[in-house]
Amino acid sequence: MNDTIILGIETSCDETAAAVVKNGRITLSNLISSQIDVHRKFGGVVPEIAARKHIEVISYIVNESLAQANVTLPELSGIAVSNGPGLVGALLTGLSYAKGLAFASDIPLLGMHHIYSHICANYLDTDWEPPFVCLVVSGGHTHIIDVADYTTCTVIGRTRDDAAGEAFDKVGRALGLPYPGGPEIDKLAKQGNPEAIKFPKTLFEDSLDFSFSGLKSAVLQYLNKNDDIDINDICASFQACVTDVLVSRTMTACKQRGQKKIALAGGVASNDGLRQSMRKACEDNNILLSLPKPVYCTDNAAMVAGGGYYRYINNEADKYDLNAFPSLDL
Ligand code: KG4
Ligand code: ZN
Repeated sequence: MNDTIILGIETSCDETAAAVVKNGRITLSNLISSQIDVHRKFGGVVPEIAARKHIEVISYIVNESLAQANVTLPELSGIAVSNGPGLVGALLTGLSYAKGLAFASDIPLLGMHHIYSHICANYLDTDWEPPFVCLVVSGGHTHIIDVADYTTCTVIGRTRDDAAGEAFDKVGRALGLPYPGGPEIDKLAKQGNPEAIKFPKTLFEDSLDFSFSGLKSAVLQYLNKNDDIDINDICASFQACVTDVLVSRTMTACKQRGQKKIALAGGVASNDGLRQSMRKACEDNNILLSLPKPVYCTDNAAMVAGGGYYRYINNEADKYDLNAFPSLDL
């Protein structure tokens, strides 16, 4: 059987990324150009700047990813591109580029759901297979998803307010840490005591949903009320609260669905505290765990190309009127 080689393009937020993946699993190249330094001075991603910055580098990133993979356009089976959810201007840059390339080279175009792509990061460079329960934790999303097979994903829990990454970033901002706060809090938490401060945890009784806005407000109140603060202890205590809730609800979901496997995905899945707690909980409960490499957790195009393989083999190519969507159901 011939290999299926997919080019992936990702521009949903502030990373311009392109990658080439063989048969949904083998990463041949994975390039990421981050705009973080540009957005940092604004304390968050500025959508209009993000879209313009993608335009500046996208040709170079795509050409370089093909060159590093040693693949030419005629060898591609498909071009997979994120078309939602995300910042619509940013998405349109990648989508328009992918459409042009697909049309000019007569290659099937595959529009990709960003969350589905995050889940598919678990298949890269591994032999991990469905079924499993996936915790997707990113800057914009916090979902528990039942992954029945490669293309059937059912959301069984979600945040009712802030996403986990958003809570990390907002707390980071209040602590005066550079954007994005997540990786900074992860670092400082290692030197702090996770039991130093009792922040509230929200667990709904009959639901797998999450809520992080109460915890975020509690940290802000703590900062307003106390002058003598230990930033490491705050980071460790906040992070422990988030990870406890994420781990406990994912374990409950796994048991409820009768599953034996859990996978993590999304930028927050690169958090060391979360990875450690999830590892321990899975060992204690005899559950297999997939932890994608950190570079496959944060936004990248290998996960987009990997996911594109499953749409391609199901003959699900899109037409050239495919649009970009700021929000999109899985
Ligand atoms: O998946 P991602 O790259 O983009 C979205 O789809 O949103 O996730 C970005 C989010 C940001 O909120 C960032 O602070 C968070 O992931 N993040 C982390 C870590 N690395 C990235 N949060 C906690 N600990 C980390 N090590
Ligand atoms: Zn993402």
